[in-house]
Amino acid sequence: MEEYIAKVLISREELAKRVSELGAEITRDYAGKNLLVLGILKGAVPFMSDLIREIKLPLAYDFMALSSYGASTQSSGVVRILKDLERSVEDVHILITEDIVDTGLTLQYLKANLKARNPLSIKVVTLLDKAARRQAEVFPDYNGFSIPDEFVVGYGLDFNEEYRNLPYIGVLKPEAYKFI
Ligand code: IMP
Ligand code: MG
Repeated sequence: MEEYIAKVLISREELAKRVSELGAEITRDYAGKNLLVLGILKGAVPFMSDLIREIKLPLAYDFMALSSYGASTQSSGVVRILKDLERSVEDVHILITEDIVDTGLTLQYLKANLKARNPLSIKVVTLLDKAARRQAEVFPDYNGFSIPDEFVVGYGLDFNEEYRNLPYIGVLKPEAYKFI
């Protein structure tokens, strides 16, 4: 698997340090608030699993799974909900947890959809922000790392469902794409 990694962009130690800093910030900001950490499947799972253990507050967590409509690799902004929340959110502060914000189209749709359910507040924490590719006017409230416009894998991020279990964020070699 690792023979296809051109370089390590963010090491496992750097990830752990930054996740712990984000957890401390979130702990300060949500003290005394009813917090629901909302993980977006599947990419956010490793990040969210580390992050919640750095948030020193009572919290609940749940998951949603979303998928872009159509076969196109370009995000269309029209999103299908494959798995929804288990209960109403009118009494909670939602913290959406994402692996990466790229065009922002998925997040724009999700925020509008959740807003209609009247939660107390909605904020976003993302591990990675690829701001150069933003198409929608959405910005994360907490960001782990701003990264250049390169396709990255690992720590939840995939290429064709592979590489999610790498413990670091890496850039793929061009050979990894050649069979598709
Ligand atoms: P967008 O912000 O609506 O364009 O979509 C974000 C989603 O695209 C993420 O949750 C990832 O699943 C995927 N994605 C975007 N950039 C990358 C990348 O560099 N590597 C792996 N997946 C990515
Ligand atoms: Mg993906």
